[in-house]
Amino acid sequence: MATSSSATAPVRFLTGITTSGTPHLGNYVGSVRHSVRFSRQPGVQSFYFLADYHALIKVGEPARVQRSTLEIAATWLACGLDPERVTFYRQSDIPEIPELTWFLTCVSGKGMLNRAHAYKASVDKNVAKGEDPDADVTAGLFMYPVLMGADILMFNAHKVPVGRDQVQHIEMARDMAQSFNHLYGEHFTLPEAEIDEAVATLPGLDGRKMSKSYNNTIPLFTPRAQLQKLIGSIVTDSRAPGEPKDTEGSALFQIYQAFAEPDETESLRRAFADGIGWGDAKQAVFERIDREIAPMRAHYESLLNDPSSLEKILLAGAEKARAIARPFIGELRQAVGLRNLSAQDKTSSSKAVKTARPSFKQYRERDGQFYFKLNDARGTLLLQSKGFATPQEAGRAIATLQQQRGDSLVALAAQLEPMDNAGRQAATAALEALAEPADGQQ
Ligand code: TRP
Repeated sequence: MATSSSATAPVRFLTGITTSGTPHLGNYVGSVRHSVRFSRQPGVQSFYFLADYHALIKVGEPARVQRSTLEIAATWLACGLDPERVTFYRQSDIPEIPELTWFLTCVSGKGMLNRAHAYKASVDKNVAKGEDPDADVTAGLFMYPVLMGADILMFNAHKVPVGRDQVQHIEMARDMAQSFNHLYGEHFTLPEAEIDEAVATLPGLDGRKMSKSYNNTIPLFTPRAQLQKLIGSIVTDSRAPGEPKDTEGSALFQIYQAFAEPDETESLRRAFADGIGWGDAKQAVFERIDREIAPMRAHYESLLNDPSSLEKILLAGAEKARAIARPFIGELRQAVGLRNLSAQDKTSSSKAVKTARPSFKQYRERDGQFYFKLNDARGTLLLQSKGFATPQEAGRAIATLQQQRGDSLVALAAQLEPMDNAGRQAATAALEALAEPADGQQ
């Protein structure tokens, strides 16, 4: 949440993966491997989610959406993502996201959306063919950036690791955040794109960038025999064994390099110069990749065979995400004027109303524990929790405070930092104030 930062607040990273295909080696090298490692660093808080609402924009086959969601979830876990450490969830399990999408829709310029690359590309194609500019363009494609903005702003992410093609979307999310903040008060953090220059793009079977749209991919967890066959089909030139080979421009060499240690890459470079046959080179590449993938493949297969345990992991992730999203959307509903009618707006400015209310902030500290605090309208601390092991426990304590207000302060004393009488009175008054308009909302 925008205002919850303390000196030790971690940097929040968030990224989504559209569930429209089967993960391939290029996704692994370009994103998954790096993200999993990164998520283990101290001082970062990561959100990874399966963008299945986004998948509906491109995929009209229900079975494929479901299968891809299963495969991508299993891939991330098999590659070592720790769902205890990160918040790993499925977009469609968070009903607050479509609600926020609407709030953002109402502050997004249509002109801005007209300029989105993906939408513009479709329009340009239609115009070139002499068709209606919007022929076969769904409103889903047009709204894609707003849904993505909601994904990001819902969790007030600071950094969004994405490919270059997505940078415009992050800029649009900033734009939406600014418009909303301007109109309704400072609710959103302005996100930034994070592009990892070091991560190379992997060539595919035909030497072009490995991509679903070129149909040149090697599925990450294809069975061993199939992996060998696919690597065998990577394009090479026609040089015979014994002739020196170029590493420059060799898809095979680049793929090897993406998996191997520098000294291994050096030996293959020498073998190329010494005229290794393509068959032997392909065998070396296959073995090197399989060595890294095989243990994860076994894990992947066991996860695919146990979809109900994956489902459980995702639902637990959704709970964790909603512990943040639920109170935040409540705050936003207040901000825009979707309010309980018995709580009269006594001030005329919407910004003043936002700041005239006490608010709960939930956050995670470096110690890995979950905390909350209650601030008054000016941001003065009224109540500070101790650490909770899970966001659910913190969320339950907040719910108790919201429902039982002053009465619960004593019962919950062990979970709160000590308060004196005056402090308890101030906190009680704030909880009473908060209770009125929040009724019937969450
Ligand atoms: N549009 C992204 C892609 O196709 C996927 C995505 C959806 C996303 N929501 C997001 C990425 C939020 C980062 C943040 O790659």
